[in-house]
Amino acid sequence: MIRTAVRKFRQLPQKLTGDVAANASANKAAQLNWIEKLQEIEEFARKGGSEKAHKLHASRNKYFIEERINAIKDEGTEVLEIGLLAGHDLDYGSIPRATLMTCIAWVHGIPVCIGGSDATVKGGTSYPITVQKSNRLSDISRQNYLPSINLVDSGGAFLPLQSEIFPDKNDGGRNFYNIANISSMGIPMVSVVCGSCTAGGAYTPSMCDEMVFVDKMGTMFLGGPPLVEAATGEKVTAEELGGAMLHSSVSGCADYFARDEEESAAYVRSIFETLNIPEFATTRKAAVEPNVEYDILDVASTKSDARLTIACLTDGSVFHEFKELYGTGLVCGYGRVSGHMVGFVANNGNFDSDAALKGAHFVHLASERRVPVVFLQNSLFHDDFDASSDSVATSAAAMRARAAYISAVSTSKSPKVTIACAGANRLSDLCPRQYDPNFFFRWPASMGLRSGNDWEDESFFSSARIWDDGTIDPRMTRDTLKKCMDIFEFGRNHELFIKSKELETYQPMYRL
Ligand code: COA
Repeated sequence: MIRTAVRKFRQLPQKLTGDVAANASANKAAQLNWIEKLQEIEEFARKGGSEKAHKLHASRNKYFIEERINAIKDEGTEVLEIGLLAGHDLDYGSIPRATLMTCIAWVHGIPVCIGGSDATVKGGTSYPITVQKSNRLSDISRQNYLPSINLVDSGGAFLPLQSEIFPDKNDGGRNFYNIANISSMGIPMVSVVCGSCTAGGAYTPSMCDEMVFVDKMGTMFLGGPPLVEAATGEKVTAEELGGAMLHSSVSGCADYFARDEEESAAYVRSIFETLNIPEFATTRKAAVEPNVEYDILDVASTKSDARLTIACLTDGSVFHEFKELYGTGLVCGYGRVSGHMVGFVANNGNFDSDAALKGAHFVHLASERRVPVVFLQNSLFHDDFDASSDSVATSAAAMRARAAYISAVSTSKSPKVTIACAGANRLSDLCPRQYDPNFFFRWPASMGLRSGNDWEDESFFSSARIWDDGTIDPRMTRDTLKKCMDIFEFGRNHELFIKSKELETYQPMYRL
């Protein structure tokens, strides 16, 4: 007999009612204010350097960074940008995009981490924040088994801030270590030298699997012409010392000599065709749009049932809820996002011991099934989670349960995405950056800190420092999650493919 149970996957409410309905338009207006502020900062970041720098760049027939990425990625696909706000309003100035655009783009259907300097901002030099941004992209590549492309057009370290760039473990030079280790995992890396590549910067392309070099644009050397002259008295041009022809025909560093940017993009695309990564089976179903009669901005970052937000994210607004009647301070369950099966965990009030135990159980189950989990973190602003500490017994129970929850999340084998929705309540954080979610985005009205200083607590302050992967318009959440799920599916299959090659150990790519 075929059973037709109706409550397994159920349609969440389509309409708002009561106070939430009454407050919806005011909430939306507040959200739109935040979004306007976000868009201003995004525009500043995308604009890059001065008009003069743009003119100089264009006069050299160089593509701007977005054009470079557009020429490489599959036509009609969108990128998932990481850290667009990084570098905004820092102590040492506002550095558009931290001089480095980092994103995941699709090349022949493969999600690829692309990092490319924006040479219109101080010659694409690396500020301290640029180093951190580059490290973050390496983390993403390693954790998600994504191949990468480096588009190098940079004056190297931003010399006035040397003392903040080089000293510590995760500072300048760490990317060489990252490249070697990611390469030794069998994850491919390609570099394009399409601008300056001096001193330590020259190691990046030299350590990748394959290198494309653009004629009359790229140069690569440890010390430039002024240094050579000072040391040896020999006068030499940058092109003679380390241009495309020199590295393609004499040093052997370059693998492909590209006559211009267009040809270099074509080389990169064809390299990706040679990776020989097989097509894989998918558990994905046909995507269905959410089925709600309200807007996510009506309920975002406000005190409303977390299911109302989940309904804006899942296919058909359908949800399979786990332990619906227990630990109601947390909502857990499964839904599909653009056809992918996804677990959701969302704060919905007091994160007491029942809620924490339920969360631990659910996260453990999702981990065993390798279902990616989305955490809608601090979806409420109110602080009633601490109410559990009114007696020693309840406080101790909450502490033990939260400890179990933290263990479950920290050791979960599932890929994880955190969306910080509203307040910053450390004790009810579901999957903060410290627990290593694969991606961490926040909404503009969310708080990164709770210091009491409004400016420091803003989402933008956090995103500027790469404490997260970016502040996004809540209306882009579903689309962002879709991209993350596509990445996870590829990553899992790519990892299995690499391991199936049965090479006992990989070595990093030792180039000649
Ligand atoms: N540190 C700090 N600022 C730097 C810099 C560096 N390493 N390299 C370039 N800049 C700045 C320039 O001062 C200039 O600033 P401005 O716009 O305020 O005038 C801006 O970046 C653009 O540089 P500019 O030389 O005018 O542009 P360009 O396109 O003709 O040349 C480079 C760009 C990167 C090729 C060239 O500046 C260069 O060779 N820089 C030094 C590279 C180097 O030796 N790095 C070693 C670091 S470890």
